[in-house]
Amino acid sequence: MLFKQQAWLRQKLLVLGSLAVGSLLYLVARVGSLDRLQPICPIEGRFGARGQAEIPLRALQFKRGLLHEFRKGNSSKEQVHLHDLVQQLPKAIIIGVRKGGTRALLEMLNLHPAVVKASQEIHFFDNDENYAKGIEWYRKKMPFSYPQQITIEKSPAYFITEEVPERIYKMNSSIKLLIIVREPTTRAISDYTQVLEGKERKNKTYYKFEKLAIDPNTCEVNTKYKAVRTSIYTKHLERWLKYFPIEQFHIVDGDRLITEPLPELQLVEKFLNLPPRISQYNLYFNATRGFYCLRFNIIFNKCLAGSKGRIHPEVDPSVITKLRKFFHPFNQKFYQITGRTLNWP
Ligand code: A3P
Repeated sequence: MLFKQQAWLRQKLLVLGSLAVGSLLYLVARVGSLDRLQPICPIEGRFGARGQAEIPLRALQFKRGLLHEFRKGNSSKEQVHLHDLVQQLPKAIIIGVRKGGTRALLEMLNLHPAVVKASQEIHFFDNDENYAKGIEWYRKKMPFSYPQQITIEKSPAYFITEEVPERIYKMNSSIKLLIIVREPTTRAISDYTQVLEGKERKNKTYYKFEKLAIDPNTCEVNTKYKAVRTSIYTKHLERWLKYFPIEQFHIVDGDRLITEPLPELQLVEKFLNLPPRISQYNLYFNATRGFYCLRFNIIFNKCLAGSKGRIHPEVDPSVITKLRKFFHPFNQKFYQITGRTLNWP
């Protein structure tokens, strides 16, 4: 009897032991495959790769840790230099459009191991005071990266600010420019919603969207209203085209980035001459948020802040129709210039 019990116990222990070893092996293999999934890639094409060596992901994580320590003051500048980290001017900029999905685009591109994002909007080219501080000030605002990585920043105000194209051209005439657009009326309402929320936070009252978007005297679309003007994409783009050829721009469909991000990101990877590294694994739909969220690895994932994806107020359908009719010819021109037709009404 005792012998039988001992044998049974031994068998049980053996099963449990193999299960533990199996799980451990699975975990090791999974982490290993993630490393292989996201090797740092040499950047080809116009960016001109400076180094072809691959950077293992774990080294990158180590260096991120080092940078964190550096920011906290626990690591010396020399240590950072020792690891070849540099602050580079952006090779690509998301120039707009405000409320087009600029944050989502930047964060999603940052999933690519060769991309490093400037977390904050720097507002270097659109703010005279910042611009007067010079290009070194701008470079110092950039995150640390490996020389073969590319830095991307986003400041949506660049798209609509008169002086910006010339200023960016002076910095780098072959820079790549990303513009993320949404259906113009939806974008204008999103823009309004953001301003409205700001007013409400300060306990202030604000006009209804209809009152701002439609001129009460003429009953026509109010082109003096900034949210309307920003959505006339072609007018702004034409200013940019005085400095940059159309090949240097890539249009991202912001409405599709919401519902089906991967194909949009793959188009951007191609435009930036990056090897395809962002996969479906990196993006998962979060039903509570109602948006896609980001998965960097088995441990780290994140959704965008609650300020992205606000509920829009209801707008009088006749005003929406009027706005859509107003934007229609501008949209046609935009499709024609960019070569990207979007199915806007
Ligand atoms: P709404 O708040 O109108 O829904 P920006 O970053 O340029 O301010 O753009 C904000 C918009 O990004 C949001 O507009 C939201 O719809 C859109 N967006 C796109 N992908 C998103 C994502 N994965 N998570 C949250 N918002 C996303």
